[in-house]
Amino acid sequence: MTKILGIVGSPNKGGRTSRLVEKALAGAASAGAEIDAMYLGEEDIQPCRGCKVQKCWEDGICRLDDSAEPRNRRIKEADGIIFGAPVYFHDINGLAKDFIDKVRIPPRGGGLHTIYLPTNGKSAFAITIAGGTGKGALTSLGAIHWGLFLPCGFRALKPVPATPFNFKKALTDAEERGKELVKAAVNIAPFEEKGLADRIRHFQETDWVNSDFTDDNFFLACAIYEGIMDIPAADRKAVEDIKVHIEKAKQLMDAGRKTEAPAYTALAYEIGRRIWDKHK
Ligand SMILES: Cc1cc2nc3c(=O)[nH]c(=O)nc-3n(C[C@H](O)[C@H](O)[C@H](O)COP(=O)(O)O)c2cc1C
Repeated sequence: MTKILGIVGSPNKGGRTSRLVEKALAGAASAGAEIDAMYLGEEDIQPCRGCKVQKCWEDGICRLDDSAEPRNRRIKEADGIIFGAPVYFHDINGLAKDFIDKVRIPPRGGGLHTIYLPTNGKSAFAITIAGGTGKGALTSLGAIHWGLFLPCGFRALKPVPATPFNFKKALTDAEERGKELVKAAVNIAPFEEKGLADRIRHFQETDWVNSDFTDDNFFLACAIYEGIMDIPAADRKAVEDIKVHIEKAKQLMDAGRKTEAPAYTALAYEIGRRIWDKHK
């Protein structure tokens, strides 16, 4: 049976990261997978000390932290991975990063290179939740893809970036992506090249992974626009203004004038936020 592991990077079990990852796991279960949930808040994760022993790269065992190896084993044994992290200061939170810093998958032989890892070519997807202002749902994706998925050799499905404004849709997307993951997990497609090129190409082509703060702000403006559209009592003129600002930002970005776009996305966000706070 296909095994899917969902990792909750938030210290708050029952919070929004939990809800999204659990929804994704429910989707995976409905597609016939055996599911496993790992709550990082319940793990005794110590930061990697960068010690000189270095044997962890070969056997997955941390000499300073007994809790690391069982986590590494669960990752290795899974056929597909869901990684969810809350956004703190526009990036993944420290707990999720401390976890990533200790991921070691022992290679099958042939050397320490990623292509020798038993995880090479397995599938994964990321969920981020920027649950405050909504900023950082995209900028935080890089840490997960470049820091966790690429070194493990995972192939990424489209991520699920969540904010308070698209949260309902994100739950639905997470569930759908959980189902897709079960299908993808059956077809392990290992990266063949020893060099990084193949993997870099893959993550460059994965939606949203290489977003800068302007892309993030554009995504947020669109999310808030869609989030308030269904509020009947919302000031229609203000809603229309948001649309105009978003269109202007898009034109500028398409014309290679990206540095000018935030003036419009930030304005769209401010107006949208006032409507959201008044009615939701
Ligand atoms: C230290 C800290 C920094 C935060 N920074 C951001 C941020 O940059 N953008 C944002 O939208 N929310 C931010 N938040 C809010 C969290 O993303 C939000 O509370 C989220 O729901 C946490 O996930 P959880 O419910 O799974 O714990 C921050 C929260 C904390 C505690």
